[in-house]
Amino acid sequence: MVNELILDFEKVFGSKEGAAAYFAPGRVNLIGEHTDYNGGHVFPCALTFGTYAIARKREDKLIRLYSNNFKQLGIIEFSLDSLTNEKKHDWANYPKGVVWAFEQEKFEVNSGFEILFYGNIPNGAGLSSSASIELVTSVIIKDMFNFDLDMIKMVQISKMAENKFIGVNCGIMDQFAIGMGKENCAILLDTNTLKYDYARIELNDASIVIANTNKRRGLADSKYNERRTQCEEALQDLASELGIKTLGELTEEEFEKYEYLIKSSVNIKRAKHAVYENQRTIKAVKALKENDLETFGLLMNASHVSLRDDYEVTGIELDTLVELAWKQKGVIGSRMTGAGFGGCTVSIVKNDCIDDFIKNLGKAYVEEIGYEASFYIAKVGDGARKLN
Ligand code: GLA
Repeated sequence: MVNELILDFEKVFGSKEGAAAYFAPGRVNLIGEHTDYNGGHVFPCALTFGTYAIARKREDKLIRLYSNNFKQLGIIEFSLDSLTNEKKHDWANYPKGVVWAFEQEKFEVNSGFEILFYGNIPNGAGLSSSASIELVTSVIIKDMFNFDLDMIKMVQISKMAENKFIGVNCGIMDQFAIGMGKENCAILLDTNTLKYDYARIELNDASIVIANTNKRRGLADSKYNERRTQCEEALQDLASELGIKTLGELTEEEFEKYEYLIKSSVNIKRAKHAVYENQRTIKAVKALKENDLETFGLLMNASHVSLRDDYEVTGIELDTLVELAWKQKGVIGSRMTGAGFGGCTVSIVKNDCIDDFIKNLGKAYVEEIGYEASFYIAKVGDGARKLN
């Protein structure tokens, strides 16, 4: 793969002299959804598919970017002196935003560069192709300019690019999972303190299966921001009495006791999800560490129900895939993953049942929804890095 990409780089940029290769994965979240902007826990892992990049420094101030995924757009070129979000620069606004964010953080990028990208994360599937391109760009910039910063700082810079340059108000989960991922491990991250802990994914004779609804996440961004606002409103109502700073600080019992403080009935449901999902995540990781896969699976299922009924971010496609999955033989747990409103589900399925799972679920989904779902057996890989 990398050798082919280096040849592509040579074709696009004239020579391959001095070019180096980098990679950042996609991610899938096992449990802990819509908790990362509520000061709660998440439990994602990095995948083995992601974004490859071949990069080389230039002497002048030009940044020239090319993607094998968007060949029709050709080389996208701009100067270090004009780092603004431009619609016509399309996908290239992600790496551009990262350069911008480095500069905001006082890391002076003092010359241009050229990069060829290739990503094999299914686009728009909610497996974080955007955070992946941000992290691979961060790793390139750190390496190229010998900046002294650790991965967590790169994670924060990448998130800043997404929040402030792209304008998507996401939490830190995606960038963290992609930056800090570790082979065969998921990461329990406390998004309030950024304390984290790796947990080995020992699934015995089962695997993680990702199913893509192939529904584009149309209104996802506006709905995402609406959910954030609702949680903030609920927090304000609670904080007036309780002096808490995030919903993640509450236990289920505390929430039940004080939910009357929340003025809007819709916001009660949103906050309930945030509080319960956070506690579920902590319990799920404990169960996994004790090799109690059954409990882990039941908590995944409960997570989906809460996202469906209280947080209301699922929709017919995700619900169909998950509810069909629950009925299949060998399924330990299944839920939507990522922001919702389309995108993917994640299931834990016994290895000897995976073929039937894909066949039966695939067939039933087409019958119900009218178009096909796609399936991937996920391997859990390492985080963003330079390749040799
Ligand atoms: C998106 C965001 C994340 C997180 C999830 C929901 O993936 O980018 O920060 O909020 O949705 O858990």
